[in-house]
Amino acid sequence: MTAEVVGTPFAEITDRVRGRVDERLGRFLDAHPLPVADLDVAEGHRLLREFVVDGGKRIRPTLCYWGWRGAGGDGEHDEAAITAGAALELYHAGLLIHDDIMDGSDLRRGRPTIHRSLARSPDRTSGRTFGDSAAILLGVLAQAWADELMGEIETDRVRLREIRELFYRMRIEVISGQYLDILSHKTGHQGVEEAMAVTRFKTAKYTVERPLQIGAALAGAEPTLLDAYSRFGLPLGEAFQLRDDILGVFGDTAVTGKPVVDDLREGKHTVLIARTFALADAAQRELLHTWYGNSALDEQVAAELRQIILDTGALAHVEALIERRAGQALDALRDCPIAPQARQALTLLAGHLTDRVR
Ligand code: IPE
Ligand code: IPE
Ligand code: MG
Ligand code: MG
Repeated sequence: MTAEVVGTPFAEITDRVRGRVDERLGRFLDAHPLPVADLDVAEGHRLLREFVVDGGKRIRPTLCYWGWRGAGGDGEHDEAAITAGAALELYHAGLLIHDDIMDGSDLRRGRPTIHRSLARSPDRTSGRTFGDSAAILLGVLAQAWADELMGEIETDRVRLREIRELFYRMRIEVISGQYLDILSHKTGHQGVEEAMAVTRFKTAKYTVERPLQIGAALAGAEPTLLDAYSRFGLPLGEAFQLRDDILGVFGDTAVTGKPVVDDLREGKHTVLIARTFALADAAQRELLHTWYGNSALDEQVAAELRQIILDTGALAHVEALIERRAGQALDALRDCPIAPQARQALTLLAGHLTDRVR
């Protein structure tokens, strides 16, 4: 990408932020060796480290950084913003590890998920149970470390309290969103509105809105800017998850690192699917009822379901929802009282998050 953000290429700043976040995470993990000498525990620790340090698009730290710059953060002294971003990334890692257990996913970031890797360890008679249990522990550890890393941020007490409050709120929101998500599997088909609410809580808030606000609070932003970041971040975060739902069915596994049959086989209640059910004719609905969420679903049936999603116009509808939300986010950004460089960077990021292929 060649876009410039007032003098410095955006890609250059973003790469630098990613590098600093990775370095901060590595430093934190080096300083936290496990207190037991067991080789299997060490292997779990190694897997967690590899997952945290060696993967992921680093969306939340990048947004935290630009949220901070937008609020007047001084680009020369960004240690606190980098540490906050690294803590968000650790928390996110814990969420993903747990999500993959809950969703029964085999692949994440192009590699076996943590619970699957652990289940394959030799000498495990009850492999699956061990893998799930050990991955639960590693996810909890990542989130406990996220807390600890947040506590290492050096700033004044008022700002620290504000950041903590936003972080605490963010955790309750995403856990509630994930809870709603698993409930939707239990209760069956849900409408577009309910699916959109799940999207807001399980993704939009913790991925976009809160990271921006945490960065802004670090720079001492006024409540008006935090509100403006909400108006920008929520529709953008929703659009991000809507894109994820499309990629979960129509994406390229080699690029996304996630399978494209899982969402259908698992019967995930996304906006895309809610819309498909609403628009389907009797024959299409029967096929959907038979196969959607059926563990026997194979690639051939998946292709038929994809065709229904296309033929009903549900895919086009969700593309339009993404476009509308991206437009709302950009409108809100235009009114944000932030520095031009941050506005330009956030505009570019909004494009990447909604128009991505991975
Ligand atoms: C995946 O988030 C989970 C969602 C909220 C859709 P990312 O797409 O940011 O995942 P990584 O960190 O880049 O793997
Ligand atoms: C989602 O990860 C994780 C969270 C939203 C916390 P995925 O990329 O697997 O997305 P879902 O499971 O479809 O929501
Ligand atoms: Mg999942
Ligand atoms: Mg999930």
